[in-house]
Amino acid sequence: MIIKTHKSILGSEITDPLVFKQRRQLIKAMLALGITGSGIYSGLSIANEAKWQDVTKGYQPKASLTATSAEIVKNHTNYYEFTYNKTDATTLAQALPIDPWSVEITGEVEKPGTYHLEDILTQQTLQEYIYRFRCVEGWSMVVPWMGFPLANLLKKVKPLSSAQFVKFTTLQDSKSMPNQAVNSMLEWPYVEGLRIDEAMHPLTILASGMYGEALPKQNGAPLRLVVPWKYGFKSIKAIVKIELLKRAPLSTWSKAAPNDYGFYANVNPDVPHPRWSQSSERVLGAGYFTPRRKTELFNGYADEVAALYSGMDLRHFF
Ligand code: MTE
Repeated sequence: MIIKTHKSILGSEITDPLVFKQRRQLIKAMLALGITGSGIYSGLSIANEAKWQDVTKGYQPKASLTATSAEIVKNHTNYYEFTYNKTDATTLAQALPIDPWSVEITGEVEKPGTYHLEDILTQQTLQEYIYRFRCVEGWSMVVPWMGFPLANLLKKVKPLSSAQFVKFTTLQDSKSMPNQAVNSMLEWPYVEGLRIDEAMHPLTILASGMYGEALPKQNGAPLRLVVPWKYGFKSIKAIVKIELLKRAPLSTWSKAAPNDYGFYANVNPDVPHPRWSQSSERVLGAGYFTPRRKTELFNGYADEVAALYSGMDLRHFF
């Protein structure tokens, strides 16, 4: 079952319908080959494939959105461990070794451990989540992710009542991630965090694919976070560690520029970045003369998530 937010769309409406037509053959081929590409789907069953098919079958969107073309999403990326250039990561990130991959889950949990990615994925039903994605820089896109709720994984390791926050850490590997070896304004490894109720929210997912394919390396393979109501920098890529904590972690961007990038980073048209407005966004792939889109509170997911912040001053907790 797809998450039926009013911002979701039919898989068949995505700009790249070919990808969807080819999905069945593609996944079968990947399974038959024991796959390759990234190797991450090698442990998946045909049952999962059937579930993906169901996703697009009977679902009726409440509003029609057009997903961004896969080509744009794969070639316009922010991946600062490799480069500050939005197009070069597509090539540079191919050097990242992602198979085998494991994720350490530790901290305030009953069952800490290091889990192989294949074991994590085979215990989950991968679904398609078609989400708006809004970068703090002022551009946006719509992406059909393949993934599963982060809550499903966290519940398996049994968080203790003392777990109030979740910290995520990206791989540290300056051999394949050249910018990690360079003195930059950012400290490595890249770190992000969520409050436990945000992490447990059903819209918060871990993604291992998009457009019906394994997640491209430049988009965060083999496993990344996606939090659709927050600015894109919260959606950390190439996760190797998840820690449940008593206190809020200091995230990479908050540490580098605390006045510019807060811990919450909820999309909010009424709270400007110190140097630019957040009231509108440039939609990637839209024509040159297409006007900017009006940015929505919580990126359009207010019905689902506003209750998490009731009574909070969103200007103070930005
Ligand atoms: N995660 C890591 N590890 N390193 C990064 O540089 N960039 C963030 C986020 N996750 C980033 C990251 C930012 S600023 C954005 S906007 C999104 O990834 C971009 O995701 P995309 O490149 O798949 O569009």
